[in-house]
Amino acid sequence: MTFTLTGGVVEWWSILIYDITVRRIAMWRAQWIRMEDGTPEEFQRLIEMETEANRDLVDRVLAHLELMKEDWGGYQISRYQHCLQSATRAYNDGADEEMVVAALLHDIGDILSPYNHGELAASILKPYVSERVYWIVKHHCIFQGYYYNHHLGGDRNARDTYRDHPWYDDCVYFCHNYDQNAFDPGYETKPLEFFEPMVRTLFEHEQQHLELNIS
Ligand SMILES: [Fe+2]
Ligand SMILES: [Fe+2]
Repeated sequence: MTFTLTGGVVEWWSILIYDITVRRIAMWRAQWIRMEDGTPEEFQRLIEMETEANRDLVDRVLAHLELMKEDWGGYQISRYQHCLQSATRAYNDGADEEMVVAALLHDIGDILSPYNHGELAASILKPYVSERVYWIVKHHCIFQGYYYNHHLGGDRNARDTYRDHPWYDDCVYFCHNYDQNAFDPGYETKPLEFFEPMVRTLFEHEQQHLELNIS
C-alpha cells in the first residue's frame, strides 16, 4: 500500500504495472536491423511513433529560424530580422497565411545550404503549401539575383529561363515586394510571436509522408 500526496491510497502493484507499461511504450524497438526484414505491424508502430515525435516539429523549425539571429555582418539587419520583415511585408500586403509563412521561412535554409537555400526552404514547406508557393520559394534565389547578379559579374536576367512559366510573375512579385526590400532597419516589423500561430495552423494540415506516394 502506498500513500499519495493527495492523501489517496494506491496499491503498489498498480504503480508497478503503470511503470512497466510506460517503460514498454517508451522502450519499444522494432526487431529488425535491416528494413527488408520489417513487418507491417512494426512499420505501422514506427510511423505512429514518428508522428508523435513530429508534434514538436514547429518548435524545431522556429528554433532553427532563431539561429539566424546571429549577425553575419554586412547587412543592416540579421537574417532573422529579414525573415520577420519579409513576412510582415507579405502580411501588410494582404497575402494569405500560406504566403506569409512562406515569406517567414523562405531563407531558413541559409545556414545549412547557403548556396542552394531556396530548395531547402521549399522542401520544408512542401507538405503544407500549394505547388505555386512551393515553386516560388524554391526559385526565389535565382529571381532575387536580378537585384545583384550584375554587380558580381553574373547575369541579372537569369530568371528569364522561366519567363514562360505560369508562376514567373508571382516569383518576381515575391522577390520585389517581400524579399529584396526586406533589409530595412527602420521598417516596423512584427515579432515571431505574431506569426507563430500561422505556422502552427499551416503545419497542422496535410501532414503526410510524401515518400509514401499515396495519392
Ligand atoms: Fe533567399
Ligand atoms: Fe530573403
